[in-house]
Amino acid sequence: MYIIGQLFNHLFTAIYFFFRKLLKGFLRKTTGLCELQRICYADYSNAYRSKAIENSLRLSKSPVLQKIDSELTSIALADQLAHRWEIVEKAVEATLVTKCINTNIHTDFILPYRICLVQIYGYRQLIARLDKLRAITFDPNDESHQKLLKTLWEKLCPDRKLDGLISKQWTEIGFQGSDPSTDFRGMGLSNRIAIVTGGGSGIGRAVCKLLAKENASIIVADRNVKGAQETIASMTEGQHVAAEVDVAKLDSVKSMFELVNKTYGSEEVATLLVNSAGITKDGWVIDMKPEDFDQVLDVSLKGTFYTTQLACKTMIDKKKSDGGSIVNFSSVSAKIGNMGQANYAAAKAGVEGLTRTVAREMGKYNIRCNAVIPGFIETPMVETVPEHIMQGMLFLTPLGRKGQPEEVANVIKFLLSKESSYITGAMLQVSGGLFL
Ligand SMILES: NC(=O)c1ccc[n+]([C@@H]2O[C@H](COP(=O)([O-])OP(=O)(O)OC[C@H]3O[C@@H](n4cnc5c(N)ncnc54)[C@H](O)[C@@H]3O)[C@@H](O)[C@H]2O)c1
Repeated sequence: MYIIGQLFNHLFTAIYFFFRKLLKGFLRKTTGLCELQRICYADYSNAYRSKAIENSLRLSKSPVLQKIDSELTSIALADQLAHRWEIVEKAVEATLVTKCINTNIHTDFILPYRICLVQIYGYRQLIARLDKLRAITFDPNDESHQKLLKTLWEKLCPDRKLDGLISKQWTEIGFQGSDPSTDFRGMGLSNRIAIVTGGGSGIGRAVCKLLAKENASIIVADRNVKGAQETIASMTEGQHVAAEVDVAKLDSVKSMFELVNKTYGSEEVATLLVNSAGITKDGWVIDMKPEDFDQVLDVSLKGTFYTTQLACKTMIDKKKSDGGSIVNFSSVSAKIGNMGQANYAAAKAGVEGLTRTVAREMGKYNIRCNAVIPGFIETPMVETVPEHIMQGMLFLTPLGRKGQPEEVANVIKFLLSKESSYITGAMLQVSGGLFL
C-alpha cells in the first residue's frame, strides 16, 4: 500500500511539472510576460501575491532566482535587518537581467515585486524567531517566560482572550502538539489526564504528586479510597479525583474510565496510565492456595490488562494525535523467580509479556507502553518482609540501600513524558543494581 502511494505521488509530481512547464511556455509566448511579471500584474491581495512569488522562485530552474530564494532565508535566519534592503535591491536587479525585463516598458513590475521580497523575508524572519523561542524550555516560575508567552499569544491571536497562562489554548498556536520539539512547557505532561491505579499508597502516591507538579489532572484510583483521598490532600492543587476502584473487576475499571468523561468532559480522554496497583500473598508453591494464586494474578496481571485495554480503546476512539503513554509494574521477583512468590513472580512476568505485546500493537497509534522493574522500595508493601531477608537483599544491592518511592516515580514521570518519546516496550530496572 505504501509503495503504491509513493508511486502515485511521484507520478503526480511528474505530471504536475510537465504541465507546469507547458503552460508557462504557452503563457510566455501569448502574453510576452514571465511568471513573476504575471503574478505582479494580477489582481492579487498582497499576501497571496507574495505566496505566489515565493512559489515561483522556489520552483524556478534558474540558478539566479533559486539564489534569491535561499538568500532571503539565510538573512532571515541570521536576523540581518541591516542588509535586508541591499539584498532585496540586488535581487530585483538580478531578476530584471535574468528575465530580460525592460523597466521602461514594464513600469509596474519593480514596486510590487520588491514588496513581495520584503514580505517573504519578513515572515521567514518571524518563523525563525519563533523557532528560537520554542527551543527555550518553559519555566512557569520565571516571570520573564510568562511575559514572553503572553506577548506571543497577543501577537498571534490579537482578537482572542487568553484564559490562563497554562491552558489548552496553546495547542491552537502550535505549542505542545504531536511534535515534542514544539512543546514549550516542560515535559509535555501539562493538562494531560492521568489515571494512576494504586495511587493511594507507596509508589503510586509518589507518581501522583510528581504528575500534579507538572500540571497534569489525575484520577487517583485505589481500592482503598481513603488512601486515594490522602494522596490528593498531599498534592499540588489541580483537577484531581479520588476514585474507589478494584482493578481486578472489569465493571469497576469501566466506571473509572466513565469518570474521566464525567469529570473532564465527554471529549476528554486519559492519555497517561500508570498501573501501580498490586498485592502480595506469599507462600511456598506446594502450600499455596489456588485463591491466593488467583487473587495476585487478578490484581497485577488481569487488572493491568483491563485498564490498558480500555485506555487504548478510548485513545484510539477519540483519535488523540499527541499520543499516549502507559507504564506497568513488573518486579525483580519475576526476573529471578523469587522463592515464596510463585503467584507474584508469575503475575509480574505476565505483565512484562503484556507490556511488550501492547507496545508492538499500539505503536501505530503513537501509544507507548513500558514497564518498570523496581527492586526493594520502602513502601507498605515491603513492611512485612522479614528483617534477615531484607538484610540479605541489601547485601546484594550495589547501592547498599532500599529505594525511595520518589526514585521510581521519577523514572515513571520520564516514561510518561515526551522526553522518552522513542521508548516503547522497554523494561526499566530501578533496583539500585539488585539482580542485574
Ligand atoms: N515496593 C517494592 O519494593 C516493589 C518492588 C517491586 C514491584 N513493586 C510493585 O510496585 C507497585 C506499587 O507497589 P507499592 O510498593 O507502592 O505498594 P503499596 O502497597 O504501597 O501500594 C499498592 C496500592 O495498590 C492498591 N491496590 C491493591 N489492590 C488493588 C486493587 N484490586 N484495585 C485497586 N487498587 C489496589 C493498594 O490499596 C495500595 O494502595 C505494585 O505493583 C508492586 O507490585 C513494588
